[in-house]
Amino acid sequence: MQLKEVVPLGRTCTEYQAMFNLNKADLNKNILDCGGGPSSFNYEMKMQNKEVITIDPLYQFSREEIEKRINATFNDVMAQAKANQDNYIWKNIKSVEELAETRMTAMKLFLNDFETGKNDKRYINAALPDLPFKDGKFDLALSSHFLFLYSDVLPLDFHINAVDEMLRVASEVRIFPLLDLSTDKSQHVEEIVRIFKEKEMHVSIETVDYEFQRGGNQLMKICKN
Ligand SMILES: C[S@@+](CC[C@H](N)C(=O)[O-])C[C@H]1O[C@@H](n2cnc3c(N)ncnc32)[C@H](O)[C@@H]1O
Repeated sequence: MQLKEVVPLGRTCTEYQAMFNLNKADLNKNILDCGGGPSSFNYEMKMQNKEVITIDPLYQFSREEIEKRINATFNDVMAQAKANQDNYIWKNIKSVEELAETRMTAMKLFLNDFETGKNDKRYINAALPDLPFKDGKFDLALSSHFLFLYSDVLPLDFHINAVDEMLRVASEVRIFPLLDLSTDKSQHVEEIVRIFKEKEMHVSIETVDYEFQRGGNQLMKICKN
């Protein structure tokens, strides 16, 4: 991973709860967040005495390097959001200003927690489709805004291997959203449903009470039966 190719952007614990339909019981599960980036989910869960492990290849870089990259890209990302306002639903987040504040607050919480969390092994430098954990270590593995979103560059095989690997280490996988970057339904969704049903997994698609990308209010759950 080249840092100059990364546009770090992180969501909050409130957003994770809504995107993944996490109820009280879910929040007490052993959770792995795959591709958590500069989200504050791990930190905010830690503050509630709940343990999440987050993996991301971004974690090979130092706090200073990640912060520099956030500062170099943030204004552009917000300008793009402003220019493409019609692609988003301003319900959970009400304006571009609130978006900027929400994202920046999440990323600052992450940055302040990063070195401690790395030492505690809550942030681990790893990349799908290879996870450095033993079989069945987690109850729930999450992917927010990584799988399906980059379907133009990540082929179906990558998605199959990534989900297989997440199911090796966790009994349930949840992926949100099912859209790609053009806000179209990812070309891999139907095949992933078919393939994992064929592998005798329980696959479901649920509508959740969170929609930011227009049409992005669906969650895929894949469970071992
Ligand atoms: C758009 S961000 C989403 C961050 C976070 N999940 C959220 O929703 O706020 C996508 C993340 O995927 C990470 N990523 C890129 N390649 C990856 C891989 N092979 N395995 C896991 N994560 C990866 C990136 O570094 C980036 O942090």
